[in-house]
Amino acid sequence: MYYQVLRILADGQIHSAKQLINQLALSSIAELELAISTLFDLGIKFYSPRADTYQLISTLELLDRSCILAALPVNNQQRLALLEIHSVLDSTNQYVLAQQHQVVPYVCLAEYQTAGRGRQGRQWISPYGSGLCLSIKQYYETINKSLTGLNIALAVTVVRVLSLIGATEVGLKWPNDILWRGHKLAGLLLETRYKKGCEIVIGIGINVKSPPISKNTITQPWVDLYTILGQPISRNVLAAMLIDHCLQTLIIYPQVGLTAFLDDWHNFDLSYGQTVTLSKQAEVITGTAWGIDDEEGSLLLQVGNEKRRFVCGEVSLRL
Ligand code: BTN
Repeated sequence: MYYQVLRILADGQIHSAKQLINQLALSSIAELELAISTLFDLGIKFYSPRADTYQLISTLELLDRSCILAALPVNNQQRLALLEIHSVLDSTNQYVLAQQHQVVPYVCLAEYQTAGRGRQGRQWISPYGSGLCLSIKQYYETINKSLTGLNIALAVTVVRVLSLIGATEVGLKWPNDILWRGHKLAGLLLETRYKKGCEIVIGIGINVKSPPISKNTITQPWVDLYTILGQPISRNVLAAMLIDHCLQTLIIYPQVGLTAFLDDWHNFDLSYGQTVTLSKQAEVITGTAWGIDDEEGSLLLQVGNEKRRFVCGEVSLRL
């Protein structure tokens, strides 16, 4: 019931308890109070301008399956096998991986994740309705191209979409951290499962319009699209653009590999020519980053006299 209440409150107007009870045909005030307290627990902030009234602190564009489908070009409306929108999930990646069917491409979004997963075992935190938490599942019977490269191709794809909506100065930190002026804007988490073929789940998290978040919750400096663009952007339109462009990449990459993405990687690469530190298990390596390898997207580091390449690891970069 809380979700129906939220759909009414999403317009940002003042709604009285009486009106909500009538509109939703609730049996009692207790039912409404339960819904309101669930919304509180989800971190949704209200005013109560007068007794027994509720108003969201700002309007909220909820994710809407038909809006997303309508904003997709026809070819990808037809290709997309399944599109699900959830209010709350533990993690969209986790949920999609747990589904046993192989109806792909399969896209799942959630307004809120209780256990959002980031790279390197980190958490991904995104308050309710403030960002995009999106997973795309694809299945390849065989894929003879590197998955590190696919990670790179998809990260480039997301930055291309962000550029299309007018976000400037957005760049990439290998392999797929998306930053703006040193602040985290978005990230990707690729998870794979091999059974017969290769099942790939691409998780994308983007901060769209985030409420202030306590520094204890997210320690890394972060930014949202609202701050960068100086105006709101529709989450449904952005979701459709991401789905559209990622579905194209999932077709192109297995055919041509990184060829179609290298120029943009180079344009977006924040580390090029910089001194970076790469942590890989217990090893910490400092060197100068010289882009990525054309074939598999591994990071090229000049360490002393030696040129080394890394397929995984955590890069820290002083910008
Ligand atoms: C990172 O930069 O650490 C990667 C963040 C990936 C977050 C997204 S949100 C949707 C999907 N579901 C998850 O649990 N994680 C990814």
